[in-house]
Amino acid sequence: MGLKELGSTQVLLPEIGLGTWNYHGGPEVLRRGLEEGALFIDTAESYGTESVVGEAVRELRDQVFIATKVSPQHFRYHDVIRSANASLHKLGIDCIDLYQLHEPSDAIAIEETMGAMAELVDSGKVRFIGVSNFSIQQLEKAQKALPKYPIVSNQVRYSVIDRTIEAGLLQYCQAHHITVIAYSPLGREFNRIRDCDPSGVINQIAATTAKTPAQVVLNWILSKPGIVAIPKSNSTNRIIENCGASGWRLSSGQLAILDSRIQYRRRNRFDQLVRQCVPGPLHSLAIKTLNAMPLGLRRRFQ
Ligand SMILES: NC(=O)c1ccc[n+]([C@@H]2O[C@H](COP(=O)([O-])OP(=O)(O)OC[C@H]3O[C@@H](n4cnc5c(N)ncnc54)[C@H](OP(=O)(O)O)[C@@H]3O)[C@@H](O)[C@H]2O)c1
Repeated sequence: MGLKELGSTQVLLPEIGLGTWNYHGGPEVLRRGLEEGALFIDTAESYGTESVVGEAVRELRDQVFIATKVSPQHFRYHDVIRSANASLHKLGIDCIDLYQLHEPSDAIAIEETMGAMAELVDSGKVRFIGVSNFSIQQLEKAQKALPKYPIVSNQVRYSVIDRTIEAGLLQYCQAHHITVIAYSPLGREFNRIRDCDPSGVINQIAATTAKTPAQVVLNWILSKPGIVAIPKSNSTNRIIENCGASGWRLSSGQLAILDSRIQYRRRNRFDQLVRQCVPGPLHSLAIKTLNAMPLGLRRRFQ
């Protein structure tokens, strides 16, 4: 398994970790992933999977890097501390390796939340502090509110079909030694990636490299500096397959073909607003409506 440095901490992180949102595979499947070298598991207080992660790592605690998240409704100082203690209890561990703010909050001052995060590091309950779904401006504000410790990671959506972060956030994180943890790296459903590959280049590259299509698109992510990926699977075979995305590299020619031939999106401000304010099932309708508007009108939203 290839390793990448977490921020500038000198801690080496497996470049494939195990995502656990909507995970139902039980401890054994995760354990197979650990055996394959994916000694990095991502969970969150909101996923309901901290207990199964705790069970999976029980015999191997010292070897596994455990990341979890606090939800924005718990961003008040005492709530952060309470959430961390509850996560430690569910995970059955003494220290969380990476504690992440799950998403930015407008409701609670970041200084208050970061005060609690710093206290958790001071008291030895957390090793490193990360964030998730933060923009450049939000990262800058968050780091200012945390003078004592660096923000070492930003967990954001990134895949061959969603390249929103390439508009600036990726470069910012790379320049500031903030590791990007790519979530939904398989598009959340692999068929979504297939739908964006009308000429079948993923299959062609998979055939040339003797890798699977999922390994090809994960390797496309790993080829970039400063990024690790956390695909999720309930199945042992797929977890083993996903771990096999590491330890080799696509050629520059193959990367260029994927860059140019896969249809991808970059979410704009309107997309993000829709996701915040419109119920899930209506997202695509709202976005299609915007795209049908005349360009001049559309620009006012974008
Ligand atoms: N911070 C955040 O806001 C945030 C948001 C979303 C996700 N995440 C994190 O990122 C992790 C991964 O993202 P995700 O769960 O949204 O999506 P993902 O990893 O992109 O995709 C998961 C889907 O792909 C399938 N799959 C897995 N391996 C496959 C393979 N080799 N071939 C074909 N299909 C495969 C899985 O099905 P099976 O399970 O049936 O194999 C599942 O349906 C999450 O589990 C979570 O830890 C974080």
